[in-house]
Amino acid sequence: MTQQKATNIKWHHGKITKQDRVNLMKQKGVTIWLTGLSGSGKSTIAVELEHALLENKHQAYILDGDNIRHGLNKNLGFSPDDRSENIRRIGEVAKLFTDANIITITAFISPYRQDRENARKLQKEDEFIEVYVKCPIEVCEQRDTKGLYKKARAGEVKEFTGISAPYEEPLNPEMIVNTSEMSVEESTRAIISYLEKKEYVRF
Ligand code: ADX
Repeated sequence: MTQQKATNIKWHHGKITKQDRVNLMKQKGVTIWLTGLSGSGKSTIAVELEHALLENKHQAYILDGDNIRHGLNKNLGFSPDDRSENIRRIGEVAKLFTDANIITITAFISPYRQDRENARKLQKEDEFIEVYVKCPIEVCEQRDTKGLYKKARAGEVKEFTGISAPYEEPLNPEMIVNTSEMSVEESTRAIISYLEKKEYVRF
């Protein structure tokens, strides 16, 4: 756990409650935490999901690994410690977005179970939905949308998840979408159905 460095700081409470925002926005903010191998379909599903939500007048926003590593997390690489710090920061950002009542979609490999658990623990039980975007590594490698599996096999990319770095599968995710068997639309629809069933949004 990262240590608290600053002293003499005090929490300031606002006047607006989460319920105020829920009433105003006609949705209940939540973090949809997509985890899975590179090439499993996290970003693609995130984009479709965000689009479907916005089309139905819901506020949603994607935090995506590749994008966040261009800015907020540009000082982090792919060592175990850097990946943990990556997920710690995103866990905190997702918590803020969720508090702002946004449907927050995160798309990070997030390979370590403990890091995902830490991100979950930051939020209320019903404000964190872990979705395992499941796809056999052979299929991800076949897709190789970014050409990184090829480079990892050649040793040009080090510590590559699934090849030379671990991926710890979720043991108890709220949802699993099998992207080698389901289309992007089917995976997206399954997540939306879950959100509707649990009354985060109304379509
Ligand atoms: S995480 O492990 O820290 O959660 P994150 O989702 O932010 O990873 O970034 C993963 C993306 O970075 C991959 O989709 C891929 O495009 C790129 N990448 C570059 N190097 C690596 C690597 N060594 N392992 C995994 N992904 C990598």
